Amino acid sequence: MSEVRMFSGAQIPLEMHKVRVVQKLNLLPVEERGKAIAEAGNNTFLLRNRDVFLDMLTDSGVNAMSDRQTASMMIADDSYAGSETFYRLEDKIHELFGTKFFLPAHQGRACESILAEAFVKPGDVVPMNFHFTTSKAHVTRVGGSVEELVIDEGREPESDFPFKGNIDLDKLKECIDRVGADHIPFVRLEAGTNLIGGQPFSLENLKATSAMAHAAGIPVVLDASLLQDNLYFIKMREAACRDMSIRAITREMCAQADIIYFSARKLGFARGGGIAMFNRTYYEQMKDFIPLFEGFLTYGGMSVREMEAMTVGLEETMDMDVISQGPQFIEFMVDELKKRGVPVITPAGGLGCHINARKFLDHVDAHAYPAAALAAATFIAGGVRGMERGTFSEQREPDGTEPIASMELLRLALPRRVFTMSQVLYAVDRISWLYENRKLVGGLNFIEEPPTLRFFFGRLEPIGDWQQRLIAKFREDFGDSL
Ligand code: F0G
Repeated sequence: MSEVRMFSGAQIPLEMHKVRVVQKLNLLPVEERGKAIAEAGNNTFLLRNRDVFLDMLTDSGVNAMSDRQTASMMIADDSYAGSETFYRLEDKIHELFGTKFFLPAHQGRACESILAEAFVKPGDVVPMNFHFTTSKAHVTRVGGSVEELVIDEGREPESDFPFKGNIDLDKLKECIDRVGADHIPFVRLEAGTNLIGGQPFSLENLKATSAMAHAAGIPVVLDASLLQDNLYFIKMREAACRDMSIRAITREMCAQADIIYFSARKLGFARGGGIAMFNRTYYEQMKDFIPLFEGFLTYGGMSVREMEAMTVGLEETMDMDVISQGPQFIEFMVDELKKRGVPVITPAGGLGCHINARKFLDHVDAHAYPAAALAAATFIAGGVRGMERGTFSEQREPDGTEPIASMELLRLALPRRVFTMSQVLYAVDRISWLYENRKLVGGLNFIEEPPTLRFFFGRLEPIGDWQQRLIAKFREDFGDSL
């Protein structure tokens, strides 16, 4: 990455690309934002995009493609079986990861479903640095459970520890000794650990984790969905890797794993996914699930156009100028919010800016879903759509009790190459207004609660009339501004 210093000394994220295709946005008046979130059951997943100004729900499938990616889609080879597009993608994956076998799947959770079907038996335990919603749901669906062994710093909202996604090796040893290798189908390592704020692990920790698992005869599965952010942080924060190329770090990381899967909605700036591995036995164990659930082995449920774009996107991921953009914008946003006193997860991670809703709304009861309430309030304040990543995103225990999430976060994703600095500053402005008025924000209650992955379709209502009072305060402070 070539560093650009400013004469003023200011540190600003500078785009190393220019915008050539744009989409018009719509910012509704605050009263209509209030109506829209009420109609959505106070669940940002249920908003219609036409009502959203800045869509910071996720970085999944909404990253801007490059001109080269778009161009590559024109040469996609449309055939059910034997498509040249597949072989180009497969070659690129093996070139970058060093793997020998590849199975395509329509997105990341499809890979998780197949891994769970193929390897997890009832009563098994899957140790991991931290769960992701879909990764946990698939393990529990087949009767297994997950154990989260992230280091203690990973659960500290504010820290300066550079690798909060690391596995605690003592906890891993204790888990293997207690559960026994026969009941551990694999250890799962998630790059750019999503639910604790997009936090990376170090290459050193990955190597040590892999050595410990392999010594016990347990395979290692790398969830590489957020690999690009993790690659950037390893290069920037891990002294031993400073002089390594991104390509070399990628190879070294993948060499520690037996199976690597990813959501190409994140990695590769396209839409799709896949599972890569070194060993034929694993390939054979999973292969039959692809035509059964996904599609023929040379497309796996993906559009060939997206596959071409993914091949180019994966190559672009090896370019520090490309992968630095996301983390640099996120760090900028985190710093601007911090300056205004807003409690954010530190150090800044990948994926997005994460607000600590437990601290932001410390007057809201933990059972009244503070992060979901903050997501609804942020939409009202600015038409900014974030995603709740806390108790509302958890599942109830089989006995119906509700576990309070260790982190109660509002995630404001920054899809890669999508938003400009003025849009980020607008979001910061509205969030800091909300912070000044935080005591107006109250909690939420379920009115409809689905049994699995309830955060997708669950509907909530405000406790009391706090949303009306927030809207009235907005009008008082901003006059007739949108
Ligand atoms: N693993 C990680 C770390 C993820 O972040 C995701 C998706 C998946 C697996 C599943 O992949 O969506 O392609 O099926 N994360 C999205 C998000 C949904 O918004 O963070 P998928």
